[in-house]
Amino acid sequence: AQTLFVSAPGKVILHGEHAVVHGKAALAVAVNLRTFLKMAPRNDGKVSVELPNVGARLCWETSELQPLVVAFSADQTESQPPSPEQIEKLKEFAGFTNRAAATQSLATLAFLYLYLSIASKCGFMPSVDILVWSELPTGAGLGSSAAYSVCLAGALLSGCRVISYPLEEGQSVGRWPEEELAVINSWAFRGEQVIHGNPSGVDNAVGTRGGALRYQAGKICSLKSVPTLRILLTNTLVPRSTKVLVAGVKDKLMKFPAIMEPVLTSIDAISQECERVLEAMAARPSLEHYPVLEELIDVNQHLLSVVGVGHSSLDQVCQATASHGLHSKLTGAGGGGCAITLLRPDTAPSVVEAAIRDLSDCGFECWETDIGALG
Ligand code: PMV
Repeated sequence: AQTLFVSAPGKVILHGEHAVVHGKAALAVAVNLRTFLKMAPRNDGKVSVELPNVGARLCWETSELQPLVVAFSADQTESQPPSPEQIEKLKEFAGFTNRAAATQSLATLAFLYLYLSIASKCGFMPSVDILVWSELPTGAGLGSSAAYSVCLAGALLSGCRVISYPLEEGQSVGRWPEEELAVINSWAFRGEQVIHGNPSGVDNAVGTRGGALRYQAGKICSLKSVPTLRILLTNTLVPRSTKVLVAGVKDKLMKFPAIMEPVLTSIDAISQECERVLEAMAARPSLEHYPVLEELIDVNQHLLSVVGVGHSSLDQVCQATASHGLHSKLTGAGGGGCAITLLRPDTAPSVVEAAIRDLSDCGFECWETDIGALG
């Protein structure tokens, strides 16, 4: 047994948020803020999990988990979602009686679910120390739970020899082949189902494969090649409810169908145009593509305000970055939350620093990172 390391990226929506709820296309891209996992063998028959970001530290005897495995082995097929009975059993075992969805409890349930299901598949329970830490904030719409599930799936499946571990002695980076990524993704999706109930599967697909993907009407399709783009990611720290914002857009659409339907169609066209530009950039990198990407960002930001998901904090991000010649839009649900600002390859560090200073003065958190990162 060896010590395993796995990492997975978060995600942002480049274009198509909200429109995707109404059957239009959205583009989701990997963001190079990552979650990391280290899994080390132990020899005392215990399994421990440490999650410093959410302040959780758990340890069980594998023998006390043994009775639970039975509930997870009953003719499970690869694509079967976690059942309510299984989740209830785990909650009871872990002692979570309240229904409040604390991040810590959900992370624990997802771990137990994946550990027990994978152990029941391979027929033994690994005694390991697992440490997971992340550069991603939780609950900001950046796919932190998916990155967590992807890391757990990759490590547990490798540790249980369901798939191989692609890193040879002395290598620092290895990648799983496509068939094994598909296995990791399907288990990560089940981890996401434990955490979110009924997720779209986009976040775990981006976390597993990286790059960019288009999703529309429940179908997820990876873009063949995407360039790595520099972005500034800003968290306004303004709390918002995705559910309330999605409902607001639906109300507007019902009230003014003739006005709102064309707006969603325009957003759809932006996603398609952006996909074309990204593929052209990957084939032939050139600065000439940037003005197009910037214009698409500006137009979509206005359209998203029209459908009612803007916020004064997001306007502040757009104004602050525009004063440095940069272009921004909200990403995800809007109404606060996060925004992305496109940087060019030749945007000077002094410009980025000045923009970050202005955004920090507004009370926002910023990271300079890349999109189109590896899975
Ligand atoms: O903030 P996030 O990453 O959860 O994104 C929400 C995206 C929406 O289109 C607004 C909702 C959805 O389910 O697609």
